[in-house]
Amino acid sequence: MTAFFCDVVGSTSLAEQLDPEVLAAVMGRYTRRAREAIERNGGTVASFHGDGAVGLFGLSAAHEDDTARAARAGLELLGALSGLMESASDAFTLEARVGIEAGEVLGDVAMAASGALAGDVMNTAARLQAEAAPGTVVVGPEAIRLLRDRAELRPLTPLMLKGKSEPVEAAVVVSVGTGPRRSSTTPFVGRERHLSTLRRTLDDTVADQAPMLVTVLGDPGIGKSRLLDAFVADLPGVTVLRASVPAAGEGTSLAPVVELVSQAIGGATSALAAERLTALVEGRPDAVALESALRSLLGLGGQAATEHTWAFRRLVETLVARQPVVVVIDDLHWASLALFELVEDAVRWTRGPVLLLCGARLDLLDARRAWGGGMQRALSMTVGPLRPEESAAIADELLGPGAALRDRVVETAEGNPLFLEQLAAEARELGDTWDPTAAPTTIRALLEARLDRCLPDVVRVLGLASVQGSRFRLGVVRALAQDATDVDAAVHEAERARLAIKVEPDVGAFAHALVRETAYRRLPKATRAELHAAIADLLADDGDELRGVHLERAAALRAELGRPDPDLERRAGEHLARAGTAAYARMDLVTSSDMLERAARLLPLDSPARLEILPDLAVALMENGRADDAVALLAGGVDEAERAGSRRDAMRIRVQQLALDVYTDVSVADIRRDIAEGHTILEELSGLGDDVGLAQGWVVLDYLHWLIGDMASVEEAAGYSVAHAERAGRLREQVQAGGDQSTALFLGPLPLARVRRWSEERRGSPNPVVAAGGEAGIAAASLLMGDREAFEAAEARWRRMVEVGGLEWPGADVAMAALAPALLEAGDPERAEALLREGLDTMERLGDVWILNGLSFYMVISLARQGRTDEAAVLANVLDERYVWMGAPDEVVRSVALSVAQSARGRREGALALATEAVEHVRATDSTLLLVLALEHLAGLLCETDPPRAVATMEEVAQIDAAWGNVVGAERVARTLEAWRTTAAP
Ligand SMILES: Nc1ncnc2c1ncn2[C@@H]1O[C@H](COP(=O)(O)OP(=O)(O)O)[C@@H](O)[C@H]1O
Ligand SMILES: [Mg+2]
Repeated sequence: MTAFFCDVVGSTSLAEQLDPEVLAAVMGRYTRRAREAIERNGGTVASFHGDGAVGLFGLSAAHEDDTARAARAGLELLGALSGLMESASDAFTLEARVGIEAGEVLGDVAMAASGALAGDVMNTAARLQAEAAPGTVVVGPEAIRLLRDRAELRPLTPLMLKGKSEPVEAAVVVSVGTGPRRSSTTPFVGRERHLSTLRRTLDDTVADQAPMLVTVLGDPGIGKSRLLDAFVADLPGVTVLRASVPAAGEGTSLAPVVELVSQAIGGATSALAAERLTALVEGRPDAVALESALRSLLGLGGQAATEHTWAFRRLVETLVARQPVVVVIDDLHWASLALFELVEDAVRWTRGPVLLLCGARLDLLDARRAWGGGMQRALSMTVGPLRPEESAAIADELLGPGAALRDRVVETAEGNPLFLEQLAAEARELGDTWDPTAAPTTIRALLEARLDRCLPDVVRVLGLASVQGSRFRLGVVRALAQDATDVDAAVHEAERARLAIKVEPDVGAFAHALVRETAYRRLPKATRAELHAAIADLLADDGDELRGVHLERAAALRAELGRPDPDLERRAGEHLARAGTAAYARMDLVTSSDMLERAARLLPLDSPARLEILPDLAVALMENGRADDAVALLAGGVDEAERAGSRRDAMRIRVQQLALDVYTDVSVADIRRDIAEGHTILEELSGLGDDVGLAQGWVVLDYLHWLIGDMASVEEAAGYSVAHAERAGRLREQVQAGGDQSTALFLGPLPLARVRRWSEERRGSPNPVVAAGGEAGIAAASLLMGDREAFEAAEARWRRMVEVGGLEWPGADVAMAALAPALLEAGDPERAEALLREGLDTMERLGDVWILNGLSFYMVISLARQGRTDEAAVLANVLDERYVWMGAPDEVVRSVALSVAQSARGRREGALALATEAVEHVRATDSTLLLVLALEHLAGLLCETDPPRAVATMEEVAQIDAAWGNVVGAERVARTLEAWRTTAAP
């Protein structure tokens, strides 16, 4: 346990100087800060007395993490108080001092907490506090020992404390790192150049107020992690978050993100996590969405309509608002696709000074060839061998200065400090019998040899532990051992041999990933398979992904041995399927496609679990740009489902095939046929009451109708999908179809008054996507109906809902597909451009090529209408080069945009041909807005070459506008017609 005592210095004289009321207020604030500092760092407030407070960290045994958190609480309290003072008058000063000591408490912690147990720890902490200089945190001997690797301490001359005969060792805490306890206590040497580059990069980040990515690359054991630790150990005024990626088969794919988030809120396991989370995001406009996204990420329950990449980025922005942030992600070579994307997203898009610092083996470049490339704000540095004199300094430290074998050790290690440490350990263990000339010449071989020589129990325990990963739970090792092996004793022994270390009372860690790899590889494959399978059962509470990962390993090993185990494969597949489905539900389609794909490979072809995940997996693959894989996946799926007797799955799979058809055939007749088939299938699913299938299926129909420009049917299909998705608790369709619904309503054939009425009904929906779509609908309709005030109000409400709800994709979608064209129609190209720019940024960030493909063409029109014709023409070329057919509406906008660009360059004929094409396309759709857009543009081009046809066309526009209720457009058209008639008049 660690005891924490604090009080306010000079409070008596303070009481004399101050108005009692002011004093009470100041003391109240101080008390609150003290409580906050203690609790935020995971401690409990044991008591308040006068102007002091006592906090307790951890349970009875002394544990370094508790001490580190107590020390951090002390520094935070001092920081908070200086903040308080700055905001108060200069008439007085108020300073706190803190005393901290760690130690074992015999008996009940509750008793200690109540103050009844005046143990030695409590006494020492109280005395240290009394001796501490104002504005400092002073720690005692046991705390010093525990903090040594984690904090920067400034030693004090030993203190004579009341009740102690000997002077007591004490030190002032200067800073506390967030790094883990490490096995190495050798002093840090060298790396000056690396450190100065890192510092400079951090300075740049702060100066530019923009993110930077630094990747530190090097061989295992060369000192990457230590370099990162050394860098972050001393960064006053910077928030540091640090996590490592577990090796494949050792942990869940987003475990590092969970770790970073929980550090940001000061510990996620405690019951306070939820409360702290709320406090952290408080006051942000997107607090609600952010909190629920982070809750779902931490497994605290809750459903989020936003992606974790968004949530992580916003969380970092929250922290950055206070002070610069350094995010360390070590061992990035083991990252999942989802994690890579999260880091890239953060580097590209976070606003504010954040340094993302990654450590990785060179294999990273195999997994992500282009890592860091193509990113503007990224740099890599390689960590090479230490210089001989640096190695010698470490060797002196480890072997004692001037040891006879020193030069030999230094030479063999070739500048790899891990190698050096292990050789030194070997030398110490073997003493005079050690023959350095016979020592293994690689670090891997050396570790092999050292494990060979360990006591059987130690080797066995390390082997059992290695199956869990770099960190391992002793309880799990005990359960795997299935006998009376003294696990604690073995770990203790391994600690002496510098192979592993206990980092928490029930948690151990290998001294280095290479030690784990060596211990793991020594196990026969059959044993590994058994252990992975056994662990999956022991981790029953740890969620599907981790269990699935272990079972998957077990199954793979069995297959390698030529003894595949179908039951293991099935169980692995079922867990991964559940985990992948959960990821799908939180809209993490990257993780989802990864896990569902693995599940689909493991599960028997006709198993219910496999058939059930195929449609979602197909969607996830498609969304990740892998349409061909999706097609291959579903091929044969319908027959498999029919054979398995599941008509429901057969139909769900068939519907997704209809969506995928579009990638191979794009004729309108084919799409119409697919639509007809889709309707038949959905009728049957409806007979089965299958909400999931109906949510999936209606979104497909929404999309197919969109392709042929049948907005009324899009609107209807999207509405059904949302309703079924709500019943089935499926978020993806709610977001996708919820957005389409309002866009299609506005673009479709209904009169604007009706659009506005329907939208008004929707704005009260409990579904945030539907409600925001409702506001957008009101805004767009009001604008054209000539009610600018209603437009402004609804647009502001829409904007707020998008921000509050974190509705990035649906917000950008509706902005580009409905609000921007409405503004163009209303004659406000500047504002249309601004909305389009925002939307394009978001869509580019989210990688939505779909939207970029078609809707970007509105940008051409809005530039041309502002007279920026060169820009418009250049953009039109760029966009058209990468354009692919994605339906009739896109085609209309594109043709108009290209025509506008041509006419801007004086190419009359080309412009006219394209405008005519646009009108042909638009006549096949039921979109009023697109129709008036295309016709009015055509009329404008015709007015010089064919005035009668121009007038006739414009008159048609006038009629449409009148029926539609487009007051703004109608006025403009009337003015144009009027002008044409007067000039044409003889
Ligand atoms: N510059 C250094 N000075 C002292 N010890 C170091 C240094 N670099 C690494 N070490 C030690 O060498 C061992 C391996 O370093 P580590 O950072 O874990 O390697 P990597 O992350 O590159 O695999 C650790 O025990 C570490 O403390
Ligand atoms: Mg490392």
